[in-house]
Amino acid sequence: MIVLSDYLVFLMVNYHDIILVSVLALGVAFFLSRGTTGEKSGIPGRLGIPYLGETLSFLLATNSYKGCYDFVRLRRSWYGKWFKTRIFGKIHVFVPSVEGAKTIFTNDFVLFNKGYVKSMADAVGKKSLLCIPKEGHKRIRRLLSDPFSMNSLSKFVQKFDNMLSARLEKLERDGQSFAVLDFNMKMTFDAMCGMLMSVTDAYLLGQIERDCTAVSDAMLSFPVMIPGTRYYKGIKARNRLMETFKEMIASRRTGKGNPEDFLQSMLQRDQYPDNEKLSDEEIMDNLLTLIIAGQTTTAAAMMWCVKFLDDHQEVQDRLREEQLSILRNKPNGALLTLEDLNNMPYALKVVKETLRMSNVLLWFPRVALDNCTIEGFQIKKGWHVNVDATCIHYDPELYKDPMLFNPSRFDEMQKPYSYIPFGSGPRTCLGINMAKLTMLVFLHRLTSGYKWTVDDPDPHLERKAHIPRLRSGCPITLTTLKNELI
Ligand code: HEM
Repeated sequence: MIVLSDYLVFLMVNYHDIILVSVLALGVAFFLSRGTTGEKSGIPGRLGIPYLGETLSFLLATNSYKGCYDFVRLRRSWYGKWFKTRIFGKIHVFVPSVEGAKTIFTNDFVLFNKGYVKSMADAVGKKSLLCIPKEGHKRIRRLLSDPFSMNSLSKFVQKFDNMLSARLEKLERDGQSFAVLDFNMKMTFDAMCGMLMSVTDAYLLGQIERDCTAVSDAMLSFPVMIPGTRYYKGIKARNRLMETFKEMIASRRTGKGNPEDFLQSMLQRDQYPDNEKLSDEEIMDNLLTLIIAGQTTTAAAMMWCVKFLDDHQEVQDRLREEQLSILRNKPNGALLTLEDLNNMPYALKVVKETLRMSNVLLWFPRVALDNCTIEGFQIKKGWHVNVDATCIHYDPELYKDPMLFNPSRFDEMQKPYSYIPFGSGPRTCLGINMAKLTMLVFLHRLTSGYKWTVDDPDPHLERKAHIPRLRSGCPITLTTLKNELI
């Protein structure tokens, strides 16, 4: 998710500006770097010349169809599990182990913190959960959490189910191929705007979505206010969004319509003491944060579900069996309830396995606030330590045949910190329940209502993306199951 990625992602979206200078400097970098293989810290790796380091290789990987994780994969094959590198002047250590993840997550805000990126704070706002310092973070997170608890999400489930069912039916009737990724992006966006602030007007939704995309693009851009740049467009889009949110809040306060949604639950606290409510600025920055944090991640994860199920027919058949038995036990046309979703053990394992395999967020970045050691390796103050969730999820010592899509592996309990698609510790994903429920509803409607064919098997990843997604968007055509079930 762009908002949750770090400075590294900033590098990938700005490569044009540095590519020329990088090529010229590469020869020098190579020559000078031969001696610097990490003796000081004991962590192997190539730091190269100051500033540039391995920036160019990183950008090349990001710009390829293999995706930016190829940069990490390659270095691991050269240096072993632990390695360090230098990108855009910062030393990065990729932390590959359960023990390392535990050290970082349990010391979040104490020994480690997210690196400050100016463009990110300018785009999502200084009061966003992603940018706010420790004390503010704890309070804002506590106040935001309730609407995302399992119990509070039952209305969201029904609305999402209703919207999804209607849209899938229409697509099946049309009989045309569509990209699952685009479909999911729109679905998750509309559903989240409904849940957060009850926006249903198609024009307004379109406007908010365009602006959110511009903000998201600006988060890791060069922070210069020059017309035409990503940053400029993003800041303009942010200003428009803030105006829209302000009008909504003002209108709610005059008593005009008070739907039961996230925004209303925040405004109901208007009369509470300061530490028990959010200011308008905090509400608005975090509305924007939630949309950006939730949309791309969930949409990508659902796309991977379709892809993995298509590749593993036996898993798809077993899942369909489970989902049809739920469908048969409900009145015709009834919407799913939380109870139904709690009754889908196999679908939950499919969700978990999809998240393990797809690694929607490849690694979680932090900066060391002081000199420290992780698993005996010395880390210097200011170094970036990236919890490498992908490496942990593909570790054969933790997962047998890690590259095999096998939901049944989750019959067994996982070792602490070995399964971390939503992170861990004080910054664990706030939308964890919402994401899981959304994926379960999606799997239910898709497999109990339809079969599908994937119309383009291209396995390549989107270029210049920080979230792994198929460049084809995974186009499919649906066929109804109704005729088979009669
Ligand atoms: C499959 C979908 C999703 C995945 C894989 C995912 C993953 C993550 C991860 C790994 C983190 C922690 C990153 C870190 O430690 O640096 C995170 C944080 C966060 N996520 Fe998600 N997320 C998903 C969906 C959502 C949704 C639906 C929402 C909200 C609507 C959301 C809101 C957030 C927020 C606000 C944070 C920041 C929490 C904080 O810093 O306190 N996420 N997410």
